[in-house]
Amino acid sequence: MKRILVTGGNGFIGSHTCINLLQKDYEVIIVDSFINSSRDFYERIKILANRIDPKLLTRIKIFEGDIRDKNLLEGIFIKSINDGKRIEGVIHFAGLKAVNESIKKPSKYWDFNFIGTFRLIEVMEKFECRTLIFSSSATVYGYSKEFLITESASINPKNPYGYTKAAIENFLKNIFNSKPNKWRIACLRYFNPIGAHSSGLIGENPNGIPNNIFPFINQVANGRIQNLEIYGNDWDTRDGTCIRDYIHVMDLAEGHILSLEFLLKNDCKFINLNLGTGIGTSVLELVNIFQEENKVKVPFNYADRRDGDIARIVADNSLAYSLLNWKPTKTINQMCKDGWRWQQKI
Ligand code: NAD
Ligand code: UD1
Repeated sequence: MKRILVTGGNGFIGSHTCINLLQKDYEVIIVDSFINSSRDFYERIKILANRIDPKLLTRIKIFEGDIRDKNLLEGIFIKSINDGKRIEGVIHFAGLKAVNESIKKPSKYWDFNFIGTFRLIEVMEKFECRTLIFSSSATVYGYSKEFLITESASINPKNPYGYTKAAIENFLKNIFNSKPNKWRIACLRYFNPIGAHSSGLIGENPNGIPNNIFPFINQVANGRIQNLEIYGNDWDTRDGTCIRDYIHVMDLAEGHILSLEFLLKNDCKFINLNLGTGIGTSVLELVNIFQEENKVKVPFNYADRRDGDIARIVADNSLAYSLLNWKPTKTINQMCKDGWRWQQKI
């Protein structure tokens, strides 16, 4: 049974991936500072693990701390060796992700995202643990004229958050090139992750007013926020609202497991991979499907375009399919249903 370190494993995507890892017979060590998640949320992960199979509970543990703290990270690796088992790979979610905040506080984003990854790599190198999955983002592409974006599209982020993700990808490529027959690295470029675990026990719960559309829709539906503003209805798209590639968080979690298995069983590699469905949904379509699927009202009005938005961004996911045999299975209706089930239980 392989032991995997999951940085930021108490967050939205990390928690779903941890559950999936446990179900696939991995041992999971989470390191999380709780800067954007809570201790209570870890209790929920454990309740879910226990519900699936009480044995899973013995295979997960958490360390509270910041990945920029090298002593903490080294302590986790040493403790693992002393327990008689090495950490065989790292899935690295820990980071900050609010685009607007990154514009106001760029240094904070370089510190958390870049320096955090830098420290992690130093420690991984020291303990000769050289298998890494990194949470990148479709935001690295910026604007593109392509209909479906492939991994070879130009890298052209438009905000500090995106710059940190692109810089980390470059840094990881340098690290790989320095020892190409030692490192195994996958940078997973997520499109728009939404939805929640079908149990309704874990999901996304952002602090304060949500930045992204899906938690916003949920909070309008439950009355916490009065009204959704749709940013522009004059885009060059089928209904005038922006098109995005929404992907169910459990399909995304599965993409991590398959990437990890691919890295562990193949020769050393560096890969960039799009994780999206290849299907575009407009903001208006998303709102309508959410209302119909969940029999709720989401009052909205049209507002001005948001700075930095683009009309359409949808993944070409054929590389992930050919390398990993990964194919997302959940529809946008399922994403809306699962997301709302979780929202009602928060
Ligand atoms: P999240 O905020 O829910 O989870 C991140 C977790 O990392 C949180 O639990 C937080 O407390 C922890 N964390 C942050 N900085 C830390 C540090 N220095 N040390 C230890 N723990 C730290 O975010 P998420 O949506 O699960 O995203 C996970 C990763 O995926 C992030 O790197 C994000 O940039 C990337 N990503 C997310 C999306 C998205 O839409 N959710 C899209 C593309 C990429
Ligand atoms: C945003 C980030 C991107 C990040 C991604 C996933 C920006 C500019 N980009 O992308 O870096 O990788 O989230 O976390 O923030 N919308 C509304 N009303 C709202 C909120 C959003 O109409 O209140 C629209 C937006 O204009 C957009 C769509 O909904 O067309 C999706 O928005 P959002 O969830 O913020 O994701 P992205 O903009 O795709």
